[in-house]
Amino acid sequence: MSSKLICNIGQLVTNSNRDLGIIENVAFVIENGKVAWVGENKNAPDCDQKIDANGGVVTPGFVDSHTHAVFAGDRHKDYVARMAGTKYASGGIRTTVEATRSATFEELTTLTKSIVHRSFNSGTTTIEIKSGYGLDIETEVKILKVAKQFTDETTFLGAHVLPKEFSDERSAYVEIVKGEMLNACAPFAKWIDVFCDESAFSVDEAREILEAGVSKGLQGRIHGNQIADSGGADLAAELQLASVDHCTHVSDKSISKLAEAGVVATLLPGAEFFTKSPFPNGQRYLDVGVEVALASDCNPGSSFITSMPLVMGLAVREMNLSPAQALYAATMGGAKALRRSDVGHLNVGASADFVIWQAPTFEHITYRLGEIDREVFSSMNF
Ligand code: NIG
Ligand code: FE
Repeated sequence: MSSKLICNIGQLVTNSNRDLGIIENVAFVIENGKVAWVGENKNAPDCDQKIDANGGVVTPGFVDSHTHAVFAGDRHKDYVARMAGTKYASGGIRTTVEATRSATFEELTTLTKSIVHRSFNSGTTTIEIKSGYGLDIETEVKILKVAKQFTDETTFLGAHVLPKEFSDERSAYVEIVKGEMLNACAPFAKWIDVFCDESAFSVDEAREILEAGVSKGLQGRIHGNQIADSGGADLAAELQLASVDHCTHVSDKSISKLAEAGVVATLLPGAEFFTKSPFPNGQRYLDVGVEVALASDCNPGSSFITSMPLVMGLAVREMNLSPAQALYAATMGGAKALRRSDVGHLNVGASADFVIWQAPTFEHITYRLGEIDREVFSSMNF
C-alpha cells in the first residue's frame, strides 16, 4: 500500500466546522485515495512519496454541484443582447438544443472534455453534469452517456424547456418525460431535475416529473425561482429535494420552509452576472440555517464559466458572503447539495481531493479570483 505525505502546509482548510476548521503548520497523509492522518508538520510520518506545500494553503477541491457541461453550438449573441439590456428568458435554450441534437457522441465528448479540464485546472474535483439540451429521447440519452464518462453525478433534465416540436402539446411532452424518456435515461442518471419557473414548467408539472423520477430510483433537485417567485423553492421543501438551484427570487416564508425541510439553496452568481439580473442576498439563507452551496451553472446561455474561484468572488462581491462562507459553500455546501459525505472536506476518511494554493491565506482565493499558482489533486477521472 503506497502512502503520500503532503507537508509544510501553512493553512489547512479541513471544513471540520463552519469556520472552515483551519489548522496551521500541518501535514496530512493519503492512503488508498483517502486522508489517513492529519497532524502537526513536525510529527509527520515517513511516507513513500512526499509533496511539499511550501507554506501554502490547502483546501478541499471544489464541488461544482450544478453544470450543463454537455452542449454544442454558440450563444454569444444572447450574451451581447443581455449586456445591451434584453431580459433573460428560457427560450434561448432551444438554440443549444438544435446544435446539440446535430452533434455526434464523439464531438460532444471532445467539447465536454475541454470544459471539464478547465474546471479541474481551476480547482474543481467533483462535478455534476445535467442533460437538458436534447429534449428528445435519443439526444437526452446521448448527453447523459457523454457526461457519465466524466462523473457519476449525472442529472436527467428532460424538463428543461418545452421543445419546439411540442410547443402546442405541453401535456404530451410531460407524459414523455416522465414515461419513455425517463425510462431510457434513468440507467445513466443519479438525479432528476426540472426547470420550474415562468416560461419553463409549472409547479404541478414539476411535481409529477420529480415524483416519477424518484419512483425510478433517482433523487430530486430543481431549478427554481430564477426568473420569478414561481413556487420551485416551496416544491423543493414539500418533496424534501436535495437542493433548489438559483434562488434569485425567494420570499422569507419560502426560505423558512427550506430551512425546516433541510433543502440546500444552491446559488449561481454566474447566472446573475451573465444575464444582468439582480443577485440574491446569500446571507438571508445562512441567517435562518439554510445550507448554501455555490456552483458555476456552466452553460452557454446564462453562465459560460467553469471557475469556482470566480463564482466565489462574485458571491463575496454581490451576495454578501464572506470569503470564508463562500469557500465553505463551494466545497462542503456543494457536497451537501449532492448528498456526499466523502468530499468537500479534508478530515480523516475524506477523499484525497484537494488543492495546494501558493498563497499565505485562504482569502487570497477570492481576493485574486483564483489567479494563484496551484496544484490540483483528484481521485476522480478528470
Ligand atoms: O441554469 N435556468 C435554466 N437553465 C440554465 C440556462 C440554460 C440556457 O440558457 O441555456 C440555467 O441558467
Ligand atoms: Fe442551470
